[in-house]
Amino acid sequence: MKITYYGHSCFLIETAQAKLLFDPFINGNEFAKEVNIDSIEADYILVSHGHADHTGDLVYLAKRTGALVISSWEITQWLINQGVSNVHPMNVGGRRQFPFGEVSISFAAHSSSFPDGTYAGVAMGFILKNGGKTIYYSGDTGLFGDMKLLGELHSIDLALLPIGGNFTMDVEDAIIASKFLKCHTIIGLHYDTFGYIIIDREAAKSKFQESGIQLQLLKSGEEFTI
Ligand code: NI
Ligand code: MN
Repeated sequence: MKITYYGHSCFLIETAQAKLLFDPFINGNEFAKEVNIDSIEADYILVSHGHADHTGDLVYLAKRTGALVISSWEITQWLINQGVSNVHPMNVGGRRQFPFGEVSISFAAHSSSFPDGTYAGVAMGFILKNGGKTIYYSGDTGLFGDMKLLGELHSIDLALLPIGGNFTMDVEDAIIASKFLKCHTIIGLHYDTFGYIIIDREAAKSKFQESGIQLQLLKSGEEFTI
């Protein structure tokens, strides 16, 4: 699977079958300003929760691409009200085979509402299995003990985890999370986009390295393959 990073928590995963876009937020993100939103193609859009820094370009991209949006029941109902009808509702604990592989929904320790206050269900993470590889995208979350269970149940090859702190796990907690998940390859997300979540990138990389874990900090538009 090939991952392309678009800044913050937005990235594309390409499997042999399909293009999966996660948490679209490009317009308004200074670190993604070189990304041309209209160059992004997607067959599916997966959305972890309702906050604006994960859904800012959701309606626009869902309408332009016609992609099937996979998210919580509440987010899919909200989308229908916005004129986006190609949706697939799921919820925590749910598992489903799609043409591109298997998706399981995990809990995320976070809140979830739209900027206008509309309830968006519970915050979620995604476990994607395709071609013998497993990717875990935690969504915005604090550290939680059931990550140990995810590490036992799934053989996670790559985890995309928030590392910016303040609203989510910071570097220290993300290292503990990686150990719980038994995963040694991490792509860091949700850092440096705005003032509350500025990190020291070099220090973050060395802290992970000291624990025997590889931390990838991708530039906007940069690709990574597993
Ligand atoms: Ni959030
Ligand atoms: Mn967020």
